[in-house]
Amino acid sequence: MQFGVPELEDLPDVDGKSVLVRVDFNVPIKDGVIGDDLRIRAALPTINWLLERGARVTTATHLGRPKGEANPKYSVAPVRARLAELAPGVELLENLRFHPVEEGNDPAFVQELIAGHDLYVNDAFGASHRAHASIVGPPQFLPSAAGRLLAKEVEVLLGLRDDPARPFVAITGGSKVSDKLGVINALLDVADQLIIGGGMCFTFLAAQGHSIGNSLFEAEQVDICRDLLARHAERLFLPEDIVGLGPGGKLFDPAAGGEVRNFGRDLPDGWMGVDIGPGSAAAFGDVIAEARTILWNGPMGVFEDPRFEAGTRSVAQAVADSRGFSVIGGGDSAAAVAQFGLADEVSHISTGGGASLELIEQGDLPGLDALRRSAQ
Ligand code: 3PG
Ligand code: MG
Repeated sequence: MQFGVPELEDLPDVDGKSVLVRVDFNVPIKDGVIGDDLRIRAALPTINWLLERGARVTTATHLGRPKGEANPKYSVAPVRARLAELAPGVELLENLRFHPVEEGNDPAFVQELIAGHDLYVNDAFGASHRAHASIVGPPQFLPSAAGRLLAKEVEVLLGLRDDPARPFVAITGGSKVSDKLGVINALLDVADQLIIGGGMCFTFLAAQGHSIGNSLFEAEQVDICRDLLARHAERLFLPEDIVGLGPGGKLFDPAAGGEVRNFGRDLPDGWMGVDIGPGSAAAFGDVIAEARTILWNGPMGVFEDPRFEAGTRSVAQAVADSRGFSVIGGGDSAAAVAQFGLADEVSHISTGGGASLELIEQGDLPGLDALRRSAQ
């Protein structure tokens, strides 16, 4: 038990019992081939704990966003095949989101899910910010617990929120300020420094009066950015130089032409900011080197295009080189450290994107709350 949430040891004897395990096997799949099976492997400690103690295990997951309709494109078949290799004998139900009642948290669907099962385990950290039937329903009726992965994610992320070793440096990127505003505010409450890169930095730069050319920009967020800059000037770090893609250029298409050039904080008309420049990367690296706790969420630029990966790569390297406790908040930054071969150099890579942000922002998740109030 931690944060009031029951764990596997708190369950009644599992021997001979049928256990429904909600997992997040929402893995990238292309042409039937799994791109990264991290989320499947991450559930094995829980599955094996149950199997070793004589339980029968049925797993259930969503996959993609099929919008309540059965769609072969979102079938769990490739995941089921991988699971059969990693944990033979463990069942996997078909995609929960083939049923509109999953996202609608329909009570009759909850009964359908739990029928024939004695116990419920939630190990789906990445989906625990969703108040969907399979996440919040079963704990009302079955003795329930958090699996190992969920418990570990909560321990790391709430630990970082509640009692981080200082200095605590948070790094945010990604395209939209509006998506990250809640977490930026939460991070400013707990972190000592906040580094801002990625597409969202241009709305901040615009708020400072810089010209941002054709870069990503959210006009409705300018006042909020200006206010954050005014209140936290000494703790907020913005890029001091920018890599721009010139007129006519296209992302992911070097053949389209378009010049790539470094600028200071101002871009000419017609240019789009696509990465932080080398000066920013060095300055951010200096801040990161001093950190004893690091949380990184969101790339510094369009790192999936090799022309614009340098900024994200430098930050990934700085995080990897740190001797502090480093946490990657899932999603694109996790993909970036994997792409650069640095995944083993960070302390914790969260399996949740949206879930990790919401946990840091709110300090709780619907899935955790449901377990806390579960029938034991
Ligand atoms: C994720 O990949 O972020 C989780 O599996 C949740 O998926 P969702 O954003 O479609 O709810
Ligand atoms: Mg998501």
